[in-house]
Amino acid sequence: MKDLLLIALFAALGAAGAGLLGWAAVRLLRRRSVALSLFCVAAVTVLAVTSGTFAVAQAMFLSGHDLGVVITVLCMASVVSLLTAALLGRQVVAGSRALTEAARTVGSDAGFTAPEHPLGLELAQLSRELAATSGRLAESRARAQALDTSRRELIAWISHDLRTPLAGLRAMAEALEDGVADRPDRYLKRIRTEVERLTGMVDDLFELSRIQAGALSLSLSRVSAYDLVDEALAGAHPLARQRGVRLEGRLVEAEPVEVDSREITRVLGNLLVNAIRSTPEDGVVAVSARREADEVVLSVTDGCGGIPEQDLSRVFETGWRGSTARTPRPADAGADRGGEGGDSGAGLGLAIVRGIVEAHAGRARVHNVAGGCCFEIALPAVAG
Ligand SMILES: Nc1ncnc2c1ncn2[C@@H]1O[C@H](COP(=O)(O)OP(=O)(O)OP(=O)(O)O)[C@@H](O)[C@H]1O
Ligand SMILES: [Mg+2]
Repeated sequence: MKDLLLIALFAALGAAGAGLLGWAAVRLLRRRSVALSLFCVAAVTVLAVTSGTFAVAQAMFLSGHDLGVVITVLCMASVVSLLTAALLGRQVVAGSRALTEAARTVGSDAGFTAPEHPLGLELAQLSRELAATSGRLAESRARAQALDTSRRELIAWISHDLRTPLAGLRAMAEALEDGVADRPDRYLKRIRTEVERLTGMVDDLFELSRIQAGALSLSLSRVSAYDLVDEALAGAHPLARQRGVRLEGRLVEAEPVEVDSREITRVLGNLLVNAIRSTPEDGVVAVSARREADEVVLSVTDGCGGIPEQDLSRVFETGWRGSTARTPRPADAGADRGGEGGDSGAGLGLAIVRGIVEAHAGRARVHNVAGGCCFEIALPAVAG
């Protein structure tokens, strides 16, 4: 028993020496290839066994013959274990190289292509993470590209929309200056109308840029949906009268909502102006407010005859408007109609509607109804 303890002590001393060497080697190699470290671990194991055996032999617990036998066995075992370590190292390095190669495809147009080389558990996990990151990167790049394209389109459209009335204003100002205008009062009236339209457009652009920059600061207060609808209807009356369109408040419930009433009145105003513009004379534009589960839904229904199905998803896009031609429609040309006469907008109204409604954690949507379409904004209802 005592001998066995002594053997264990000598073997431990011999192995500890090899272990210390191995610890120093592994520390030195920590920035080098993992294959070297694996080889080093195998070499330390062999060394620990060999030095332990020599220590035990030195203490006379092994005869010369036995030592020879043990050393021969050890030599064979070390060859096999070092070869196995080298093979394992190669395998790990090949997997990591394949993954490095594949990582270069993260963010590429084709997206991440996982390596075909079989990977260990950890590397396979890393590969899955890279695939997910690449997917997220592609999504955000597509979003940024879409935003960039829509901004560029918007700038082009707005420049076009500004150029046409500005050219008209210049022509009218020149005619007045040269005294060749037969009815100067009509020209002045038309100039005022155009300036009002341009001011509205610039105002819309400013609002939209505040929305898109997330700089829309809402001053929320509790108001009744009834008051919001009432105020919007009052604002839209002059245009409705001018167009011969009847405005109706149907089923307007006095549900409370917590909103920025100025912004929501603007939303309803935009929807009403669109509805009145799209409804033929003698038509009806109806507004309603009702509670639906945990939402208060305000809706504006017109008699436009319906929006083509393929356009329904596009109406809220910035700058989109029904006709692709971005020139004022004939109705706009008439200076005599005065006031709010023009039909032609910049396609900003509904983008502003969506922006303001979403800033209130609500949703804006549209669907066709018999003879027209119905724009709805759903706002969170006040709890309790
Ligand atoms: N109530 C509606 N009925 C039928 N079509 C509509 C209605 N509201 C909007 N649209 C269509 O959606 C387009 C986009 O509307 P939006 O309010 O964003 O722009 P706009 O009215 O053309 O211009 P702006 O509002 O900037 O003066 C309109 O040009 C029109 O074709
Ligand atoms: Mg509009």
